[in-house]
Amino acid sequence: MELTLDLAKKWLQLFAKDIQSQQGFLNELDTAIGDGDHGTNMVRGMQQVQVLLQQDTASDLSALLKQAAFALISKVGGASGPLYGTALLDMSKYAQEHDSQLEALIQAGASGIARRGQAQVGDKTMLDIWQPVAHDLSQGQFNRQNLQQHLAATKDMEAHKGRASYLAERSIGHIDPGAQSSEILFNNLLQVIGE
Ligand SMILES: Nc1ncnc2c1ncn2[C@@H]1O[C@H](COP(=O)(O)OP(=O)(O)O)[C@@H](O)[C@H]1O
Ligand SMILES: [Mg+2]
Repeated sequence: MELTLDLAKKWLQLFAKDIQSQQGFLNELDTAIGDGDHGTNMVRGMQQVQVLLQQDTASDLSALLKQAAFALISKVGGASGPLYGTALLDMSKYAQEHDSQLEALIQAGASGIARRGQAQVGDKTMLDIWQPVAHDLSQGQFNRQNLQQHLAATKDMEAHKGRASYLAERSIGHIDPGAQSSEILFNNLLQVIGE
């Protein structure tokens, strides 16, 4: 399916709202295996995205994704900002150079995170949501149940990237905060595409 400008606006709006309401929960997850600021970081970035949505100056999908990317890169502060930002920027580039096909866009985003974070699937990061979701989309199996499983799987992983990696095996048993915020993001996508 195609990710239209209108759907993307609704998607980012929902994400901004949920990030706000889940701020404390995301901070708690990050307190267990990081420095406790993932919710606060994401709220800072998504508030700027809400300002952009209100100004409503993006003429097409690629422009909107680019605006959101720069908002996250400049406002978030933590490691997650440049990572989400790179995902959105690579999605913007893909939309500009190719098309707006959802599955290809999410794969472009996942590849951007892997490149920017030097991360692999299984490292216990947000990539452990993005890459499986890209795969699910390509198989026509993008749904809540699978999404939930990808998130739960991060609990048993040992972190190899980011602050959580300092804990080595003590990171096992906790859900990764960036994977949790990405799960929220893709739940919001399911909401806007009506599934
Ligand atoms: N190298 C990386 N590659 C992919 N994702 C990463 C990487 N480093 C950190 N992350 C993600 O960022 C999240 C932490 O974000 P945040 O708390 O906002 O930043 P910080 O770690 O700087 O405090 C992690 O839970 C993880 O999902
Ligand atoms: Mg943190």
